[in-house]
Amino acid sequence: MRGKLVVGNWKMHGGLRQNDALLADLRAGWQPADAREIAVCVPFPYLWQAQAALSGSAIAWGAQNVSEHPIGAHTGEVAATMVAEFGCRYAIVGHSERRAMHGETDDVVAAKAAAALDAGLVPIVCVGETLEQRQAGETKAIVLRQLAAVIARLGTRMAQMVVAYEPVWAIGTGKTATPQLAQEAHAVIKSVLDVPVLYGGSVKPDNAAELLSQPSVDGALVGGASLDPESLAAICRAAIPS
Ligand code: 13P
Repeated sequence: MRGKLVVGNWKMHGGLRQNDALLADLRAGWQPADAREIAVCVPFPYLWQAQAALSGSAIAWGAQNVSEHPIGAHTGEVAATMVAEFGCRYAIVGHSERRAMHGETDDVVAAKAAAALDAGLVPIVCVGETLEQRQAGETKAIVLRQLAAVIARLGTRMAQMVVAYEPVWAIGTGKTATPQLAQEAHAVIKSVLDVPVLYGGSVKPDNAAELLSQPSVDGALVGGASLDPESLAAICRAAIPS
């Protein structure tokens, strides 16, 4: 049976010295187990450091974004092929912070997912509703709309992606979706897509087991708690196979 996948998203945190310690602790503390997978998505400049520290371990690494363009005059952008050169397995695309603060539309996110796949990366496509949208009863419609663009763009390749359901109101707020709310949203996603679906939004050691025990929750995308190796390891331990 498929195990759970736990992915840490460092967001814009880190520094050469502290990363060394964090990655070493992560590597030392993680007991490889076939039933679980773990990865960390780090800022672009530290991909080489993650590669150096984690190569040969059971821990994979990835980027937090890629350009939708393959190459060319796009100052400041980073191509998926460049990221892939550093041994990445994953690339997060369409994180709500990028949708909200960097103007990423559903179509741009879909193009980024395609670019990641073209480069041999597994895109982790983030979807999720705002508090306003949830209160208006629009959660299902929003999530399906966000996915529709990706499905249209990827066609049969959609089976190669991972989806992360991250309700915007639960990100960095300490407010977690209840396991029931997470399960409901994941079931909606799985009604249109047969891929692993991670839950993200204030996942911590004390709520991970309950969230991860839901049948349609295939893993976790962890922000703040992934910066503490002990917390991430505790979340991973909670990721028992379903
Ligand atoms: P937090 O775990 O800090 O709420 O962040 C969630 C997230 O955005 C992961 O991508």
